[in-house]
Parts: sequence; structure tokens; C-alpha cells
Amino acid sequence: MRSNVLVTGGAGFIGANFVRHMMESTEEVKIIVLDSLTYAGNLDNLSGLNAARLKFVKGDITDASLVESLFEKEKIDAVVNFAAESHVDRSILGPAAFVETNIMGTFVLLEAARKAWNSPEALESARFVHVSTDEVYGSLGETGYFTEETPYSPNSPYSASKASSDHLVRAYFHTYGLPVLTTNCSNNYGPYQFPEKLIPLMVLNALEGKPLPVYGDGKNVRDWLYVTDHCKAIEAVLDRGRLGETYNIGGRCEMQNIEIVNLVCSEVDFLVELDEGLALRYPYEEPRKALIKYVTDRPGHDRRYAIDCQKIETELGWKPEVTFEEGMKQTIEWYVTNRSWWEAILSGEYLKYYDEQYGNRG
Ligand code: NAD
Ligand code: TYD
Repeated sequence: MRSNVLVTGGAGFIGANFVRHMMESTEEVKIIVLDSLTYAGNLDNLSGLNAARLKFVKGDITDASLVESLFEKEKIDAVVNFAAESHVDRSILGPAAFVETNIMGTFVLLEAARKAWNSPEALESARFVHVSTDEVYGSLGETGYFTEETPYSPNSPYSASKASSDHLVRAYFHTYGLPVLTTNCSNNYGPYQFPEKLIPLMVLNALEGKPLPVYGDGKNVRDWLYVTDHCKAIEAVLDRGRLGETYNIGGRCEMQNIEIVNLVCSEVDFLVELDEGLALRYPYEEPRKALIKYVTDRPGHDRRYAIDCQKIETELGWKPEVTFEEGMKQTIEWYVTNRSWWEAILSGEYLKYYDEQYGNRG
């Protein structure tokens, strides 16, 4: 059992869900969140948690002296590295931040861990879990799945930067014996996801009666994983994963984008029809499918991702538990209930990005 877990990017979507999960599933672990609070980081994501077991440090993972001093001061014996620039569309608009945070930031963390865990005892008990993506494997055709043996073939600046960080993590195991593990997971959804990503973007636009921008023909396929299932998988890897291994994590739930958008429309129609208050707040006369707008495709848009997660299922006894239907219901209800969370985001600097991204997409 680790005592002082450094969670980088813990104020973001998956990181915050992971912190919440760890606070519930463990009793004594202390969590130190290191997050620079970029546009995607939000302290509200961590509100209401037990301050005695959670320390928040605002800082950048590329800041070597800060990271090294944290390892020493907080006696860090485990790292779960979520901190990243995480959005493919932004990586197309401006790749530099992706190279800086995702590659250099991971390098700084690995170096700090190597310096801090410099005895056989420390190397025996410490763990460095690096959270990565299935996008490093590239794009699939109609059939087949990504396994842990699939060669890397990243296509976007985002996935290329994550692939580079995965290679560094691997090299630190082989060269220095650093106790690392890497996870490559599919698309997550659930509470606290920043509304630039497909599902929350469609939910909020559907509620507000705004166009629903579907890229290309809408038939690109992603595998969807409910975020709490992902958090449980990471905890299993942290506790029981074999050092130096990589684990694919997926929801066994392939969906075309257009199927998801259609489902969001019917679920939002249904919720609004049931509730007079919602109907008054979000008036829209037609079925919300009328809002769907096919727009110019994303450059280099990967066609299909699908994960074979047999290894983590058989080795660590993890499997996804939340069905897509149930997860979507919970997610949509969360966004409907937590209006102030997303209103604060939609009224800020995000608007500029939204206009830039969607303004010219004919
Ligand atoms: P997110 O964008 O919601 O959150 C990222 C967090 O990292 C934010 O809180 C941000 O402030 C912080 N951060 C960014 N740059 C930083 C820096 N230089 N120093 C310190 N903190 C920094 O991302 P997410 O969706 O929660 O993804 C978390 C991790 O999971 C990422 O590594 C991502 O590549 C990976 N992942 C995400 C998905 C997904 O569907 N969201 C799928 C596969 C893998
Ligand atoms: P996204 O949530 O950005 O995740 P990723 O690109 O990492 O898979 O997008 C999921 C899918 O939805 C992807 O195929 C692109 C598509 N998409 C749209 O069609 N419209 C949108 O407005 C967005 C944000 C995504």
C-alpha cells in the first residue's frame, strides 16, 4: 500500500474523478494533487473533499525544481500521471503546448522519481503509473482491436506527444529499473468532463438549443468507458499491476459518433419533457435531432478505435461495470443538475476557442 500519492492533473476530468474515487476506496492514503490549472483544470472538480487527506499544489509538471521538492517534502511513493494537454482539436490548432506538457512534463516527473527513489527498498515499493491513450495505436479499419502488442502509429499531434511520453516511461523501466506501469485507455465520459469533448459538448448544446456539430459523416467509431470504471482500473494497476507492463483499458462499447448524438438528443428531449422547470429554462419546440449539423471533418480524423482489454481483465480481475445506457443517463443528469459548474466555463475564455473551432466549420 502506498502512502503519499502524487496525482498530476488531479483538477482535470479523469484526475478529479480518480481523486474522488481514491478518497472513497482507501482510508489512509494521502493525495497530493499537482495541477497548473490550465483552461481544463478546475478547483471546483475537487470541492467537498476531505482536506486532511488532500493537498492541492498549483504548479507545472515541467517545473523540475518544484517537482523535485514535492517528492522530497511530501515523501511521494506513488505517482499517477494524468496531467496533459488532452484535446485532439486543440493539438491541431497549437501543438507546442502538447510537446511541452505531455513529453517534457512526463520526462521531468520520471527524472524526479528516479532521483527520489534511489534505494532498492524505494524501488521495490514505489509505483509510477502513466495514464495514456489508445490513440497512440493509430486508426483501425472496420475490424480488429488494439492489443498491448499493436505497434504505435499515432496520427495527431496529441497522440504523437502521448506516444513519445509512453516511450520515455518504457525506457525508464528498461534503463533504470524505475517501477513504472502504463495504461492506454479508450474515450472516457462522465461527470466533470470539460465541454469541448464530444459528449458534454452535445449535451450542453442540445439543452441550449444550439447546433450539434458532427464532424465528417458522423460514422467514426470510438470505444466508450465510464470514468469511474476507468478509475477502478487505474487503482488495480497501481495496486497489482506488473512492473514495466502496459495495460489496455476499454469499455467494450463501440459507438459511431452519430449514434451518440442521436442518443443525447432523445435523452435530453425526454428529460425536458418530464420536467416543467427544465422545459421553461430550455425551450425548444422540435425534437432536438433537428439541431444536428454535419460540419467539415477534423484533419487526419482517425476512423475507428477499439480496445481489446483481455489482459487487464484476466491478470487484474478488472472489467467495465457501467453500461453505456446507464452511464449516459448519469452523465446527462449530472450536467443538467450541475448548471453552475458549466455556466462558469461557458462564460469564460472557452468561448474564444469555441468560436475559433466552430465559427469556420462550414
Ligand atoms: P483534462 O484536459 O480534463 O485535464 C488535464 C489536467 O491536467 C487539467 O487539470 C490541467 O490543468 C492539467 N495540466 C495540463 N497541463 C499541465 C501541466 N503542464 N502541469 C500541471 N498540470 C497540467 O484531461 P483528462 O480528460 O482528464 O485526461 C487525463 C489524462 O488521461 C490525460 O493524460 C489524457 O491523455 C488521458 N486520456 C484521456 C482520455 C479521455 O477520454 N479524456 C482518454 C484516454 C487517455
Ligand atoms: P473527442 O471527444 O474530441 O475525443 P477524441 O478525438 O480524443 O476521440 O471526439 C470524439 C469523436 O467525436 C471524434 O471522432 C471527433 C468527434 N467530434 C464531433 O463529431 N464533433 C465535435 O464537436 C467533437 C468535439 C468531436
